[in-house]
This record gives sequence, C-alpha cells and structure tokens, in this order.
Amino acid sequence: MPRVTRIIHAMTGASATPYAFRLLEVLAKAKIGVELMASPNVDELCRVESGTTLAEELAKIYGSAPAAGESLGKAEDGGPLVRRHGLGDFAAAAASGSGHEVPMLVLPCSTGTLGRIATGVSDNLITRAADVCLKERRRLVLVPRETPLSAIHLENMLTLTRAGAVILPASPGFYYQPGGIEDLLDFIVQRILDQLGVRLRILKGWGEND
Ligand SMILES: Cc1cc2nc3c(=O)[nH]c(=O)nc-3n(C[C@H](O)[C@H](O)[C@H](O)COP(=O)(O)O)c2cc1C
Repeated sequence: MPRVTRIIHAMTGASATPYAFRLLEVLAKAKIGVELMASPNVDELCRVESGTTLAEELAKIYGSAPAAGESLGKAEDGGPLVRRHGLGDFAAAAASGSGHEVPMLVLPCSTGTLGRIATGVSDNLITRAADVCLKERRRLVLVPRETPLSAIHLENMLTLTRAGAVILPASPGFYYQPGGIEDLLDFIVQRILDQLGVRLRILKGWGEND
C-alpha cells in the first residue's frame, strides 16, 4: 500500500469526539493532511463531552479554526494541513470519483449516518464522499459509537462490510492495562491509523500484547 499522506475525516453526531481530536492532533504533528467535514451535531457533542465547541477544539490543534471553505497550514504532500468543507459542497474533490484517491474515515460515526451510507442516501458531502469511496473501492473506515446495537444497526454494518468498508467500533481493549483515558483513546486511534494505512506508531511496544 502506498504511504498515506492525506485523509478525508468526517465527524458526525455520535459520542466519542475525544477520539477524533486525538487523531487530528497526531495527524497534524506528523504533517498528514486532512480534508475535514463535520455535521452540525458535532458542536453539541463537543459541548456535552468537553464543554467546548468544534472551533475551540480545532484551534487547540491547528492554532486557529478553519471555517467551511477555509484551509490552514501546510502538510507533507504540499496541500493544506487541514481543509474544512461545508456539507453542501458537492463540488469538493471528495464528492467525485475522479477526485481524491485518499482513504476516508467517519469518526465518530452516528448510527444515522451509518444507515444513510449503507442505503446509498448521498444527501450531504459526508454520505456522498463515503458513497464515492465504496463505488471506487477506496478505503472507508467507520467508527460507530452506540450500545446496545439493534438488528437495523447490525444489518447496516454487515451491508457496509460486504461493500468493502471497515467497521471499527470505538471499543478499546483493557488487556494492555491502560493507565487512563488517554491510553484508551490511543488504543482506538492506533487501530484507525493502521486501518487507514497511515504509517504512524503512537503506542510504545504496540503489537507485543496484541
Ligand atoms: C449528546 C448526544 C449524544 C449522542 N450520542 C450518540 C451516539 O453515541 N451514537 C449515535 O449514533 N447517535 C448519538 N446521538 C444522536 C445523533 O446526534 C443524531 O441521531 C443525529 O441525527 C445524527 O446525525 P448526523 O450523523 O448527521 O450527525 C447523540 C446526540 C446527542 C445530542
């Protein structure tokens, strides 16, 4: 697999925003570019989970927060470190099969967005970009956070897996004796990096106990 230097990262309104911000922090430090899209529900999740807003969280990582249509910084591939897309921007490269050949991540992935992707409802840039990944046989990693799961959720996950997506639930292991929340975040973030093909190691001795 060629070295991955840019990803599409979509955030939707499921719990688990700390995983997303930890991942963005790791990618920014490594100069991996991000095409970022976020559903309007992410702000409410940030408020409930950390008493912040999406803009405040992005500013902690990138120095300031890009509005929809704005880019910040410079990544290793010469493109922006982060480029924020509005959800109605169907002219974005990610919305077209002839656009970005980069892997896509949906983290957190709500069961609503998961269901829309599973049934081909390309009603915004997130679901359209995911649809493009599936039809072009590009890597698509979905990180749902819900429990328990209904038959509808499970059938949608099976449909997506059969269509080529990777379902990576936000369920960290405890067999490596995590010392706190940051270790739990890093467990999942490492799995996501591996699945996206981003060659970064954030866990020391990773694999020894895997
Ligand atoms: C505080 C809060 C927590 C939520 N947590 C989850 C969750 O963990 N998983 C999930 O699938 N939906 C969760 N939801 C519901 C979604 O935000 C809702 O279904 C929304 O329509 C998803 O739309 P989106 O995928 O376009 O963001 C939560 C909503 C709120 C307000």
